[in-house]
Amino acid sequence: MTLQLPEHMPLTELLEKDSRLRVAWDAALSAGSFLLHQRPVDLVIDTKSTPTDLVSAMDKQAEEMVFTALRTAHPDDAFLGEEGPERPGTSGVRWVVDPLDGTVNYLFGFPMWAVSIGMEVEGETQVGVISTPAFDEHYIAIRGGGAWLITGDLATRLNVRECHDLSLSMIVTGFGYAPKRRTDQAHVVWGLISKVRDIRRLGAAVVDFAWLARGRCDAYYESGLHPWDKSAGMLLAAEAGAVVTVEGGTDEMNLMIAAVPGISDALRRELRQLGAYPPQ
Ligand code: IPD
Repeated sequence: MTLQLPEHMPLTELLEKDSRLRVAWDAALSAGSFLLHQRPVDLVIDTKSTPTDLVSAMDKQAEEMVFTALRTAHPDDAFLGEEGPERPGTSGVRWVVDPLDGTVNYLFGFPMWAVSIGMEVEGETQVGVISTPAFDEHYIAIRGGGAWLITGDLATRLNVRECHDLSLSMIVTGFGYAPKRRTDQAHVVWGLISKVRDIRRLGAAVVDFAWLARGRCDAYYESGLHPWDKSAGMLLAAEAGAVVTVEGGTDEMNLMIAAVPGISDALRRELRQLGAYPPQ
């Protein structure tokens, strides 16, 4: 179903477009504010899959804040967060949450980090909220209802950039944590860099999606994204007009490509030639 909505509208009106949007918005903003203002100088870091895959007490606390807010409002919903075990539910709704995407950026004081909340029904994201507190930029996506940049109490509809020539495009990508995966991903970048205007590595998948949606780049691709990296972001990019695909299923071999329509086919051809696609 497509909602007929104007280009600008009050945030309060947008929040009424889905019954679960308000709680997700409040939870994302609260967790983001906590991460921005309560970051200790001596941040205690732990490692996960590899010595460079980090988690801090802040990630865990932010996730618990989001979980508590969502569970209090909707006790029967399932919950999948980056930092904790999956918590089952009975309502058919599942929240997919990255409480702090861009953990390494957060550790080093880079501003590209985000809170991401996706609300899924039968595996399809219906609503997404993304907050990038260090920029004071916040985003809402509603399936069939558009991608929105929120500034103060104003929601402004987002549209991707126009670009029809791969050689003039700005591409964003990311790297996993496992050394073998990073090496494979670097080989793809090595082949692609001479075919495009430039390539950026922002360090937070959720920010990559948001910046594509708001026209700061022409495409974002990455292999091996987890559900919490892409649940809200893919919907935001698609609702802003990007062509968004995931190939290779939901396991670690997947390749996600989100691109403006004018370079989508050309980028996919290049990535296929460079061996970025998962084996069939
Ligand atoms: C990572 C970031 C990074 C992306 C990785 C993600 P994390 O998430 O989004 O940009 O390239 O694939 O795992 O560890 O910062 O939450």
